[in-house]
Amino acid sequence: MKFYITTPLYYVNAKPHIGHTYTTVAADCLARFYRMSGYDVFFLTGTDEHGQKISIAAENEGLLPEELADKISQIYKKTWEKLNISYTKFIRTTEKQHQEVVKNVFNKLYEKGDIYKGQYQGYYCIHCESYVIPEEKENPLCPDCKRNVEKISETSYFFKLSAYSEKLLKVIEESEFIKPDFRKKEITNFIKEGLYDLCLTRKNVKWGIPCPIDENYTIYVWFDALLNYLSGVGYLYDNNTFEKYWPVDVQLIGKDIMRFHNIIWPAILMSLQLPLPKTIFAHGWWTMSKEKISKSKGNVISPDDFINEYGVDPFRYFIMREIPFGLDGEYSESAFKKRYNSDLVNDFGNLLNRTLNLIEKNFNGIIPDSSSEEEITNLTDEVFENYSKKMKEISFSEGIEEIWKLINYLNKYLDTKAPWRQTSENKDKVIYSVVEGIKNVSLMLSPIIPETIKRVFQMIGIENKINKENFSSIKERIPCGIKTGKREVLYIRKK
Ligand code: MSP
Repeated sequence: MKFYITTPLYYVNAKPHIGHTYTTVAADCLARFYRMSGYDVFFLTGTDEHGQKISIAAENEGLLPEELADKISQIYKKTWEKLNISYTKFIRTTEKQHQEVVKNVFNKLYEKGDIYKGQYQGYYCIHCESYVIPEEKENPLCPDCKRNVEKISETSYFFKLSAYSEKLLKVIEESEFIKPDFRKKEITNFIKEGLYDLCLTRKNVKWGIPCPIDENYTIYVWFDALLNYLSGVGYLYDNNTFEKYWPVDVQLIGKDIMRFHNIIWPAILMSLQLPLPKTIFAHGWWTMSKEKISKSKGNVISPDDFINEYGVDPFRYFIMREIPFGLDGEYSESAFKKRYNSDLVNDFGNLLNRTLNLIEKNFNGIIPDSSSEEEITNLTDEVFENYSKKMKEISFSEGIEEIWKLINYLNKYLDTKAPWRQTSENKDKVIYSVVEGIKNVSLMLSPIIPETIKRVFQMIGIENKINKENFSSIKERIPCGIKTGKREVLYIRKK
């Protein structure tokens, strides 16, 4: 079983902020979840390095575009390392191999008759790197980002996007690739309003892949960037890898880039006669005072500040738990602290701490050998089933809620059984059941907070005694005679 997952390629005009880390952390959680479910995972991410937006940003910094691209892609790599992102490949669109694939695809579509030469008269938004139709002609603004747009009038090469309208409507109707479901209508309405053919080349943009059939042009940056999902997995040069992983299973994107991914991208694939992605899931935006968090709005939350203050995993946990994936969510430090203190410090951290304390006091630090309470085993099975279902539906917050059902149950179970009392019965069974529960909760949390769970396994003393990389360990008992490890506080409460 294989699982191929992608993130968008991030522009190298600026450093990553919370919005960019959101898509990548989400992809990482899914990649880890599928690996632990026994899949062979290919996880692709990287940087989008061509186009006007980048060359202008470079100029503003007194750098060449390639220098800026080197600098920012390095920062992205470092950020992903810090956030424990387990990608298989980090692609840069300036890579030779990618450029060759883009040129080959251009040639293929041209030879097929899906690319033709014509005249472009219209507007271009550099910020969105998009051909747009402003609402007003006197003061033309981008309908999406409301910035000033550029007027363009030039001969260019076009992709016959409009020819794919009916086919697109049909697959959108019949298949399930647009997610969440409520986005489907938005896309079909847009197609029904009438698609224009897509301008694929730019005359005065030097920073781009040269057009293979006409040296006066470079290739439109979105056509270049979208093809990374093919070139990143070997298309046209590593057939084994490509055959193994294509079609892509899950593509995570933000809602602002849905039209590129839900219309242009499948049309290109149709033209290449390749199978379409199984799921393209658009998530919402992180906002502050209801405004999208973005560099240009000056309301950026840097992942670094956050991580330095609270640690990597609390950050990962918060962004995955706080808002339903697919909807917008308001960022606030108070919301973060609340989650951190209540979920990680109180519920999970305390459960672990008091259990280890009980093992120390009652069993000299050796996990008692007993059997698990049937009720807890049954609840674990049910929780794992629901959690898996939610993760497969890309519903992280609900998946985590499922895990919390077990955590809450274990805390209550301990309170009721009160094994710290002299008179309490079956202490060994009670404590064993809770440690088993913690092991299972930890396995399920491991895709979300991997570093923390490593520490938990060390504290319980099972880091080398169970297979931490596979959910099959949920069904396996903790072996006899395990000595617990060095105990430390998992998370420190924040005021
Ligand atoms: N380069 C294009 C994508 C090309 S993919 C073939 C691009 N890059 S981007 O750097 O501007 O954005 C990348 C992703 O970050 C988008 O999915 C976007 O939605 C996401 N986010 C940027 N700001 C965001 C928030 N404030 N909140 C959530 N995600 C947002 O678009």
